[in-house]
Amino acid sequence: MVTCPDVRKEVIRFHYDLSTFFYRLLWGEHIHHGLWVGDESAESAQLNLTNTMASLVDLQSDDRVLDVGCGMGGSSMHLARTIGCDVTGLTLSPFQARWAKVTATLRRLRSKTHFFCQDAETADFAPESFDVLWSIECTEHLFDKAAFFERAARWLKPGGRVVICAWLAGNVENNVTATQQVYDVCEGFFCPSLGTFDDYRGWMTAAGLTVAATHDWTSRVDRTWEICIRRVERTGVRRLAKILDRDTVMFLDRFQTLLDAYRSGAMQYGCFVAEKPE
Ligand SMILES: C[S@@+](CC[C@H](N)C(=O)[O-])C[C@H]1O[C@@H](n2cnc3c(N)ncnc32)[C@H](O)[C@@H]1O
Repeated sequence: MVTCPDVRKEVIRFHYDLSTFFYRLLWGEHIHHGLWVGDESAESAQLNLTNTMASLVDLQSDDRVLDVGCGMGGSSMHLARTIGCDVTGLTLSPFQARWAKVTATLRRLRSKTHFFCQDAETADFAPESFDVLWSIECTEHLFDKAAFFERAARWLKPGGRVVICAWLAGNVENNVTATQQVYDVCEGFFCPSLGTFDDYRGWMTAAGLTVAATHDWTSRVDRTWEICIRRVERTGVRRLAKILDRDTVMFLDRFQTLLDAYRSGAMQYGCFVAEKPE
């Protein structure tokens, strides 16, 4: 695991409150990587990631899903609309929670989606409340990932499924340059730490979950950052960020670092599928 001790929770919250608008402008309502199969558009690749995750856990219309770090509610609403499941979404950002609720109302999805501004590290639910624990690119922001999995495993029913996508530290051991690249990504994207494939397997197993599969999707997602870098250059969004907030400028400037880290092997993009034993 690579850590960045300077990251603070208030800064993560502020980032998503402020930058949701930039994400929407640059990338759309799904704030996650695209998963490419061929030459499809970024929008299809983003939906492909969500749909692939849904099929990995065989999501059904009667499933109750917890979407941890739901952003603008893109995945939650997509799952509620296309599969019919009931989704509870948590986000640290009050702005995102409001955005998701308004959008769900406009799309007539309020009865199937429930959005809360809540910290996943302090939120609590009754044991066995959910069939599926779903999270795309949020656990990077958690300070105590092992404790999160311990608590989240209790919220799952026996036989419940887990599907998580996360940015990971790659093979950085004894490699100062690679470790620095991961640190720079953590700092620029407000992640207190990035775990490795092995770290995540260990945290889930210690929480009583059985890891059924792991997928390294690095080479299928890294195009995301080529596209985002081009869009930043084309839109002049960096100039606007400069007026608003220094951290947002650093965030935009670290897109290239992240792409380099994927290409050098310093970082990986992983998907984890797990189950809570019956
Ligand atoms: C990269 S975005 C991903 C959003 C969403 N999963 C998607 O794919 O569109 C990260 C999300 O994690 C949320 N997040 C970060 N730390 C969190 C925490 N401690 N509790 C709940 N949500 C958190 C942010 O508010 C943001 O919505």
